[in-house]
Amino acid sequence: MSNGMTEWCAAPGRPLSGSLRVPGDKSVSHRAVMLGALAEGTTRVRGFLEGEDTRATARVFQAMGVRIETPNASERIIHGVGLHGLRAPVAELDCGNAGTGMRLLAGVLAGQAFDSVLVGDASLSKRPMRRVIDPLSAMGARIDAEAGGTPPLRIHSNSALQGIDFKSNIASAQVKSAVLLAGLYAAGETRVREPHPTRDYTERMLAAFGWPIEFAPGEARLRGGHALRATDVDVPADFSSAAFFLIAASVVPGSELRLEAVGMNPRRTGLLSALRLMGADIREEAPREQGGEPVADLVVRHAPLHGIEVPEVLVPDMIDEFPALFVAAATARGRTVVRGAAELRVKESDRIATMAAGLAALGVEITETPDGAIIEGGAIRGGRADSHGDHRIAMSLAVAAQRASDPVVIDDVANVATSFPGFVELAKGIGMGISDA
Ligand code: S3P
Repeated sequence: MSNGMTEWCAAPGRPLSGSLRVPGDKSVSHRAVMLGALAEGTTRVRGFLEGEDTRATARVFQAMGVRIETPNASERIIHGVGLHGLRAPVAELDCGNAGTGMRLLAGVLAGQAFDSVLVGDASLSKRPMRRVIDPLSAMGARIDAEAGGTPPLRIHSNSALQGIDFKSNIASAQVKSAVLLAGLYAAGETRVREPHPTRDYTERMLAAFGWPIEFAPGEARLRGGHALRATDVDVPADFSSAAFFLIAASVVPGSELRLEAVGMNPRRTGLLSALRLMGADIREEAPREQGGEPVADLVVRHAPLHGIEVPEVLVPDMIDEFPALFVAAATARGRTVVRGAAELRVKESDRIATMAAGLAALGVEITETPDGAIIEGGAIRGGRADSHGDHRIAMSLAVAAQRASDPVVIDDVANVATSFPGFVELAKGIGMGISDA
């Protein structure tokens, strides 16, 4: 939880070097807990992200009667209760900072024979939930939110959901997943079509748990009335966590870094394409499969970057990486233009505004636009920048500090634990200059 008091002091360290493995993928870890809980049998999850977001999701299912063991750090054994085995919670269900947790849970809970209430922290309590409430309501769910469509979500019991043919106008894996998860409980077929393909972990994992599902980029369909069968889940390292180091090593002269077993789902790796357009030197080695997902070792070397117009088609595949990309742009030669990324305004913070303010505080010339930003590459100076409790902003500013002329104090960093516990230690270990102030 952010208490607004925790800060980092970051400054150039040495050239980045060494080998590291970042923690498990957040999207996959959330889904593994959810499907494991709703499956028949015991699911072992390896590489589980020990982040506050994913732990919150595990606690929510424990509060509904699911037994979850932690035999070792980054491992969970989930004793599934079956699709209809959840018990009514006695209290509100706290999703913490996690939009993924809350939106996917809304889909699961919409089809339960009990009432439930989903709550979140200050940031999550401001995030838009109409995007899931509307399609779930069209399936017959009854969900009350605050006047602005924000949490808490009060979900009424419902045992009669109907399948839906939902044409979404936002490219959102969370929306797609909420509808598909409700579809497990619905009569007939549930189909989701997206304006641009988004990450397909829900679809892949439903298939791995034995649920008949048809999917292709941008589209998925399934029918209610089957069962989930427990299976083991091997979580790849989170590409979005690796992204900070890909950029740090790209922009710090003399760096060469190896990131091991990074998840390479093509719906996640848009940043690689964008960085390569900017001139980055990133090699993929030993491409292989891990738990049904493509993974590879990434070897990144410093390279002089130049500004680009980020192709809009890449936006959904790098939606979580824009704060870091803005930093790459700030160090690059020339101008970088980002368009078609208005979704950034409704993430853990308004990521266009918080990055614009944070980089401007460090002397970077950056102009906000409604759906992106224009960034002039140049020098970065020291100073004080506020992450506004957004984990990815905090880590991106720490990367920016590696090129700053003076130390950078970064405020409100406690929420880094939502997605990347141990970031400071790992970053220090490869040569970044960062300390808990
Ligand atoms: C996620 C989907 C994305 C992403 C988030 C995780 C998921 O959100 O930003 O970090 O696990 O489905 P949207 O679906 O809102 O784009």
